[in-house]
Amino acid sequence: MARKKIALIGAGNIGGELAQRAMEKELGDVVLLDVMEGVPQGKALDLMEARPVDGSDCNVMGTQDYKDIEGSDLIIVTAGLARKPGMSRDDLLAKNLDIIKNVAENIKKYAPQAFVIVVSNPLDAMVYAMQKVTGFPHNRVIGMAGVLDSARFRAFVAMELGVSVRDVTALVLGGHGDDMVPIIRLCTINGIPITDLISKEKIDAIVKRTQMAGGEIVALLKTGSAYFSPAASAIEMAESYLKDKRRVLACAAFLNGEYGIKGYYMGVPVVIGANGAEKVIEAKLNDEEKRALLGSFEHVKTLVDSIKL
Ligand code: LAC
Repeated sequence: MARKKIALIGAGNIGGELAQRAMEKELGDVVLLDVMEGVPQGKALDLMEARPVDGSDCNVMGTQDYKDIEGSDLIIVTAGLARKPGMSRDDLLAKNLDIIKNVAENIKKYAPQAFVIVVSNPLDAMVYAMQKVTGFPHNRVIGMAGVLDSARFRAFVAMELGVSVRDVTALVLGGHGDDMVPIIRLCTINGIPITDLISKEKIDAIVKRTQMAGGEIVALLKTGSAYFSPAASAIEMAESYLKDKRRVLACAAFLNGEYGIKGYYMGVPVVIGANGAEKVIEAKLNDEEKRALLGSFEHVKTLVDSIKL
């Protein structure tokens, strides 16, 4: 069986980390593309030289030429600017929209059968633009954010209780912004609701920290945004697609009436398998949760409507 071909558009911090994880997990041969001369080539060569130590036989190549992504099975897009301290993800809209439109044109031309995972910010608008410009079916274009936002929530809960992250399940819905919606009621420690184990005050603080977690890292790094956790999250989605695992992962998926929303992308639980984003799973939400989700959606909608695609 031929190896899968994975194209990573953007060879910055997340792109490099994605390439390493894909190589180590032997998910497929990797093409790392970036406009910066030499950067994808340098990172690819470095990873090729790590392969004997890792025992991985997957190839990694770097390029500036979109022709090299021809026939890719999977594409992960991280191209675009990252936030600087004090910026919101929305502040990146104008610059990253032009970049994403260009990336989308090239994906349409060279890899018309690919499954595309968008990571660039503002996420909910960039994934919408990617689907519009490629014209791909909605199940083949998805955004990475919910896995990351849920992972942050899980990490903080595990830290608070001193238990394994493996036993914490959590779901964060909505847009990938400060008004994202961690569903407290559905967060459990191996089935035990956290509301039985953590005080309301502490839970509220964890929710707030989760919502602001991306900005917390930007403020610390000063030169860019998080990359280990976004890469880990996108690879979890990629693996579910490539191996047809049918994981249920929170992702920015296209909504066609689910959760009362139609015609926009937003974070919801989705089954990811060989056919891409196969099915949105609808959790029953209470009134307070519904209100919060619609509030987050209004924000996404305003942003998406402003790009006029
Ligand atoms: C973050 C960026 C990747 O949340 O949006 O860290």
